[in-house]
Amino acid sequence: MKIAVLAGDGIGPEIIAQAIRVLDALKADGMSIELEHGLIGGCAVDATGEPYPEVTHQLVSNADAVLLGSVGGPQYDTLPRPQRPERGLLAIRKALNLFANLRPAILYPELANASSLKPEVVAGLDIMIVRELTGDIYFGEPRGIEQRDGQRVGFNTMIYSEAEISRIAHVAFQAAAKRNQKLCSVDKMNVLECTQLWRDVVIEVSKEYPQVTLSHMLVDNAAMQLVRDPKQFDVIVTGNMFGDILSDEASMLTGSIGMLPSASLDQNNKGLYEPIHGSAPDIAGKDIANPLATILSVAMMLRYTFDQEEAALRIETAVQKVLQQGLRTSDIAAPGEQAIGTQAMGDAVLSHL
Ligand code: IPM
Ligand code: MG
Repeated sequence: MKIAVLAGDGIGPEIIAQAIRVLDALKADGMSIELEHGLIGGCAVDATGEPYPEVTHQLVSNADAVLLGSVGGPQYDTLPRPQRPERGLLAIRKALNLFANLRPAILYPELANASSLKPEVVAGLDIMIVRELTGDIYFGEPRGIEQRDGQRVGFNTMIYSEAEISRIAHVAFQAAAKRNQKLCSVDKMNVLECTQLWRDVVIEVSKEYPQVTLSHMLVDNAAMQLVRDPKQFDVIVTGNMFGDILSDEASMLTGSIGMLPSASLDQNNKGLYEPIHGSAPDIAGKDIANPLATILSVAMMLRYTFDQEEAALRIETAVQKVLQQGLRTSDIAAPGEQAIGTQAMGDAVLSHL
C-alpha cells in the first residue's frame, strides 16, 4: 500500500502525525505500508511558489492513496488566487479525477450531548453525503471579475454534463444499496436549469437500482430538514457547491466537525482521504486539535482503496472505545469536562488498537 502523505498547513501536521502512528501500528502488525511525504497548500507555496507543485503531482500519481491534513491560513488570503492554498486542494481533486466525495456523518452515542441539537433528534444519526467534487460552479468556465459598463461584475458558471451527473449518481445508488436503500437527491430545479438536468439524469439512473427508494429535495428545504429531522436521511447525493454547504451543516449534527472523515474517489477507487475540517490556524501548534477525523480517514482509506474492512473496523472500534472511556479533545468536551490534547488522544487510540 503506497500512501502519499500531504500534511499541509495549520493543524494538518499535528493531526497527520497521530494518523501516521496508527498506520505505523498496522505496519508493525504486518501490513505492507509505504509512506511518502509531499507538500500541498500554503507550505507548498512557501517552498515552491505553487500550491500543487509538479513534484507533488508525481508523488500522488504514483501512490495508491493520498492522506491529506488540511490547507490554508490567513497569511495566504491576500495571494493571487492561483497561488492560494485552496487551489492546491481543488487542483489535486481535478488532477486525480476524484469526482466522488463521500462524507459520512455519524453521531457516536457518547457525543449526543456535544450536538447543538436535542439528543432525541440526533441520537443514532448515520447519514452519508455523496458530493460531486470535480464539476459544478467550482470549475465552470467562464469565471472571473471584470469591468462592464463602468463597474466591476463577478461571474461563475454552474455547469454539469449528463456523464458527470450519471457517474456520481451511480456511486450514490451503490452506496445506498449497501445501506438502508434510501437516496435523496438535492437540487434547485425550481430555479436552475443545470440542476433540472441533474434531477432528470438521477431519475434515469434510478431505473438501474429498483431496490433503492429515490426522493428529491430542493437545497433550501434540505438545509432545513437536516436540522429539523436529520434521521429521515440515509444517503444524500448532490453537486459540488450544495454538497460543500450541506456537509458542513451535517457535521455539526454530530457534535463536532473534528470527528468527520472523508473519502474522495476516482473511477477505480484510488482515493484521497482527509478530515472535512479546515486548517484551524487559531489552534495550530497548541496540541489541542482533534485528530480523530484524520484517524477515521485512515479507516476509510483501508476500506475503500485497499479493501481491508477488518483493519478499518479495528480503527473505528478503537476510536469508539476511546469515546466510551470518556476521553475528549476540547472540541467535543462538555462544559466543565476535562479535555486531553492531540498527542494524548493519539496515545489513547493506539492503546485500544
Ligand atoms: C471542503 C472545503 C473546500 C471546498 C475548500 C477548502 C476549497 O471547504 O473540502 O469542503 O470548498 O471544497
Ligand atoms: Mg467545505
